[in-house]
Amino acid sequence: MYEKELKAIKKANRFRNREIFSESLLDFASNDYLGLSENRMLLKRAYEKVSSYKYHSPKASMLVNGYHPIHNEFESYISKLCGFEESLVVGSGYLANIALIESLVRKDDILVLDSEFHASGIMASKLTKGKVSYFKHNNPFELDNLLKTLKYKRAIVCVEGVYSMEGDLVKPKIFEVVDRYKALLIVDEAHSSGTVGKNFLGVFDFYDIKPQKNHIKMATLGKAMGSYGAYIQGSSEIIEYLLNRAKSIIYTTAPSVFDIALAYEGYKYIQENKKSFLEKRDEIFRLVEKSFVSRQESLILKIEYGDNQKVLDLKELALREGFLIGAIRPPTVKKAIVRIILRLNSDMENFRKLFSLF
Ligand SMILES: Cc1ncc(COP(=O)(O)O)c(C=O)c1O
Repeated sequence: MYEKELKAIKKANRFRNREIFSESLLDFASNDYLGLSENRMLLKRAYEKVSSYKYHSPKASMLVNGYHPIHNEFESYISKLCGFEESLVVGSGYLANIALIESLVRKDDILVLDSEFHASGIMASKLTKGKVSYFKHNNPFELDNLLKTLKYKRAIVCVEGVYSMEGDLVKPKIFEVVDRYKALLIVDEAHSSGTVGKNFLGVFDFYDIKPQKNHIKMATLGKAMGSYGAYIQGSSEIIEYLLNRAKSIIYTTAPSVFDIALAYEGYKYIQENKKSFLEKRDEIFRLVEKSFVSRQESLILKIEYGDNQKVLDLKELALREGFLIGAIRPPTVKKAIVRIILRLNSDMENFRKLFSLF
């Protein structure tokens, strides 16, 4: 039934498949930035925590009786830690972005997205009744111009804390522009939460920005936190509104209790060990600077080649040497890149060996 479509995908060289990689490969490709997905102690702690309750699964939507004490405890912990009024656990980052955009952007409002915003935001933009506009990647001047010239009741701006392919951080000037126009700002911290800032809490922490009523943060738990799921943070009004209007929060089973417990243990572990994580991050950044003469802002290292075959060859070469890395090509990125995740649990010697291949 879909033969033609599949043929077209193959013809365009865009056919993809899942693969199970050998556990013996050194992983420099996944989003497990801190190596928490290998940490057995966190697994055990989460298991013990969940086991102390009668129910280990949510059983229903949060608004029926799927809201578990572990969800609630984690939300309170994370609100205090990040300085937001309230937090709300969500099944995944994809669902969270759909929830935010679909419910917050009403008729007469405008949604303004960074041109490199995640696919979930693009998908959600098709569900709103508001107008949709894009600004040039990480360009506060263009954003300023749009907010100045367009007509709207409310403006909702979407950016990422760290952009997943380029590895660059959202510019602090974007916060200034948004605040000046009293727009709502949604910061997707999928790749910045757990990786940047002196407390590993993301870009608010990195720039020392105290969350305001117009700031909304979305963070995922399936990357640096070594679990699965997501949460949204904002003012009590925004969280209350989402609970009453966001379909992908209301009409879905509450997030997995175990995954939230695991992420909760992950957060506590990072806070307990942030000094050694910081030292390792600095050491890796120094090595990147020495090896590639480039300053590193995040744990995503991008090496641009602009040649599709070259990046595929490099990926193969790395694989033969036992390293798993990313070879990202257009249309995902404008020019072909090698993408290396600087996972903090990797040995410095392995970083040296890997970097010597480029
Ligand atoms: C920037 C960004 N936002 C949102 C998501 C979706 O999050 P999740 O995997 O939890 O659905 C991802 C990737 O997975 C992402 O990279």
